[in-house]
Amino acid sequence: MSKPRIVVVGSINMDLTTSVPRFPEPGETLLGTAFATAAGGKGSNQAIAAAKAGGDVTFIGAVGDDGFGTQLRSTLTEAGVDASLLRSVNGASGIAAITVDSAAENSIIVVAGANESVTELTEDDLDAIARADILLCQLEIPLATVVAAVRHARDNATTVILNPSPVQDLPENLINAVDILIVNRTESEQLGPVTDRVAHLVTTLGSGGADLRDHETTAHADSPTVTPVDTTGAGDAFTGAFAVEWVLDRRRALHFAAVAGALATTVHGAAASSPTRSSIERHLQ
Ligand code: RIB
Repeated sequence: MSKPRIVVVGSINMDLTTSVPRFPEPGETLLGTAFATAAGGKGSNQAIAAAKAGGDVTFIGAVGDDGFGTQLRSTLTEAGVDASLLRSVNGASGIAAITVDSAAENSIIVVAGANESVTELTEDDLDAIARADILLCQLEIPLATVVAAVRHARDNATTVILNPSPVQDLPENLINAVDILIVNRTESEQLGPVTDRVAHLVTTLGSGGADLRDHETTAHADSPTVTPVDTTGAGDAFTGAFAVEWVLDRRRALHFAAVAGALATTVHGAAASSPTRSSIERHLQ
């Protein structure tokens, strides 16, 4: 089986995660129960999820020249992601301040740091996008760069998957070049009718699984029953797995991704929680 070639142009953050019994009220001081630092960022999480699900993955983005940057680069390469197009720039790496409550729900504040410096695509970046089966993007780097990557993919017959998170208005020249849009319920409501413009719309429904709407058909995949401990990055695990399986066996991509997303909630952390291909396969049977 040849591995699907996936290029991710996106963000990479150090996640600073505090576990709490419940979210604090404004002005309240609360005692947390645990603290952890781990690799995150929607782009990097999706790249790692795709590599673990069986993809040949290249990541394009930027880290700072701080200790976090060194750790983040190592995490990508240890997961089997090609990080040769990852820039190191002066300044701080991106971070996400995350709070996870006892119901496994999270709140996230991202400070972009080096992610903001991804304003240009090099010849090597463009070449990698043109040779890929799938380009995977999110919206945690400058929008103009996402548009440039997506347009280049479209011009070179590379399938474009966009996970428009954090949600913002999608310009015409972006939405027109997207093949598959992956949104959660909230993002779908916020984006409104623009979601009807893409050929394939995937809506993730948390523990309710996921829906896929093509031009003429709709499909649904249930989520396996799991005991969640942390939902951070579950959507990223879903998206990375979906991208791989869309190339390998499109008919089961939705189920494959729904299993990946559910399994990711059973482990703490974002990138580390995405399941391996063999683990997803086991749960599909
Ligand atoms: O989707 C989860 C991710 O969102 C976290 O890893 C955090 O870094 C933010 O980008």
